[in-house]
Amino acid sequence: MRIFVDSADVEEIKKLYEMGFVSGATTNPSLVAKTGRDPREIYRELAEMLEHVSAEVVAEDADGMYKEGKDLASIHPNIVVKIPFTPEGLKAVRRLKGDGIRVNVTLIFSAAQALIAARVGADFVSPFIGRIDDIGYSGVEVVRETAKIFALYDIPTQIIAASIRHPAHFIAAAKSGAHIGTVPPAVLWKLLKHPLTDIGLEKFLSDWRKVQESLSK
Ligand code: G3P
Repeated sequence: MRIFVDSADVEEIKKLYEMGFVSGATTNPSLVAKTGRDPREIYRELAEMLEHVSAEVVAEDADGMYKEGKDLASIHPNIVVKIPFTPEGLKAVRRLKGDGIRVNVTLIFSAAQALIAARVGADFVSPFIGRIDDIGYSGVEVVRETAKIFALYDIPTQIIAASIRHPAHFIAAAKSGAHIGTVPPAVLWKLLKHPLTDIGLEKFLSDWRKVQESLSK
């Protein structure tokens, strides 16, 4: 599973990117709104750093989504246009794909929606694990079913497991066949931390210091 950051906070994404394990970022209107910044600037800065930056349209009709998608894609070749799974959204996906633009279909809550989006030509589908769990179903199970269906029919669409809320979601998404996990920075920082790593390092360094001290006597 490749690892993306689910955020529009450029500085925070940069800190994670510098460690070398992040290859993309996914944004949505809520995440962009939180920054208070010009969305185009955010998308450009991120696309100069990362191979995949999902940027979402906010129009609700196919024509509007198509126009907005074309405009977003013109910012940088690394922009992937994010389209919500609605009948109008699917029409826009079809048109954007006709123009060779990469598309991520978002707000996916079932394997059926994922299969339909894939058949329209989506390059990526984004099932929302946490929000499916919120309504009493298993988000990870939706990813597992989708991965199984895509494998059965040789469908090249990649699954981006989204709405990852905690470290256990991250592992479960990786085991369930998601190609990509998009993870909020706070969850990534938790994944980077392990108490035994800290304790182990402290012990190594204190043992080392003891030897140095006795050698210098
Ligand atoms: O990528 C989708 C994600 O941002 C939604 O997460 O936690 O609001 O369900 P959440």
